Amino acid sequence: MAPPLSTTFGSTRPEKRPWTRAITRKTRAWKTSSLNGQAGWTTPSSRVPRIRRRPKPLRFQRRKWPDPMPNQLTDGLPLAGKVFAVTGGARGIGAAIVATLNARGANAVAFDIDPSAAPAGSESITCDVTDEASVKGAFESLNAKYGRLDGIVSNAGIMLEKPVADTTLEDFDRVIAVNLRGVFLMAKSALPYFRTDMPDADKPRIVNVASELGHLGRPEYSAYCASKGGVIALTRALAREFAPGILVNTLAPGPTDTDMLRAEKNYDSWVKDGEGIPLGRVATAEEVALAAAFLCGPDSRFMTGTIVDVNGGAAMY
Ligand SMILES: NC(=O)c1ccc[n+]([C@@H]2O[C@H](COP(=O)([O-])OP(=O)(O)OC[C@H]3O[C@@H](n4cnc5c(N)ncnc54)[C@H](O)[C@@H]3O)[C@@H](O)[C@H]2O)c1
Repeated sequence: MAPPLSTTFGSTRPEKRPWTRAITRKTRAWKTSSLNGQAGWTTPSSRVPRIRRRPKPLRFQRRKWPDPMPNQLTDGLPLAGKVFAVTGGARGIGAAIVATLNARGANAVAFDIDPSAAPAGSESITCDVTDEASVKGAFESLNAKYGRLDGIVSNAGIMLEKPVADTTLEDFDRVIAVNLRGVFLMAKSALPYFRTDMPDADKPRIVNVASELGHLGRPEYSAYCASKGGVIALTRALAREFAPGILVNTLAPGPTDTDMLRAEKNYDSWVKDGEGIPLGRVATAEEVALAAAFLCGPDSRFMTGTIVDVNGGAAMY
């Protein structure tokens, strides 16, 4: 019940104020005094504490989730309309990458020295990654057809299994020319076609295919290991130089069941026993291609300079 006016306002109440104003203040003062446990005049500027309701139990509260990030790799066609050049895309891992990117809506084109080996229905352009004119010509043809470039996958590679004593300088140079210089040449030649002002998810991608041997080393693979170690180092340098406009990453597969592996001495022990591979088997080309598609797609938008290992645990470092 409201206290009598005389006790509430006492002598501090200004006598000259008009009635309407005084009544408003009276009401306010009464509320204040009952909340604070103090009686008396409250100046108009003082805050009347707000009466807060107890929060609703959680199950009745309206939940505010952050906007869900769609899983763009598996939802819809995350690469719709994008154009990729995949070197060595006619066979093995490269052919699987072309197929996987296309399945996600992209136009992936194989740049291969031997396009006749490409699976039926996939698009390819003749290109030798060791030859500058050939690489530039391939990009011109691609640009003439599509008028855009969203990424390259530098996958073309050759393997050499020879003791150092038997490796000629020509052998060594050939491996470096395809596996390392070819990666550099592709990145350099692609630059003029990339748009570097794209939003994060659509930034151009460079995916270089190295190998676990780029870390591990292996007897009788000196040239190959040197070339793949070089690809890893080159990727890091490019990632720093091209940031933030272009994302550059490495894929480092372990033994993968392709023609290249079938030509190696250890093929049988790897394929039969999964020797030295914690997951107990070699990879399929498609499993490596899934990682390549991730690096080409919007889900890897905040990754650059990384090495993505697809090796069943064979190399952990
Ligand atoms: N298969 C494996 O076990 C394995 C493991 C780790 C890394 N890798 C790497 O993965 C990549 C693909 O290997 P793969 O097993 O599919 O090999 P692959 O031999 O099956 O296919 C290689 C492709 O590259 C093409 N190519 C070769 N020289 C070329 C050149 N100068 N210019 C353009 N194209 C050329 C070939 O025509 C072929 O289509 C290579 O870089 C390889 O080093 C393979």
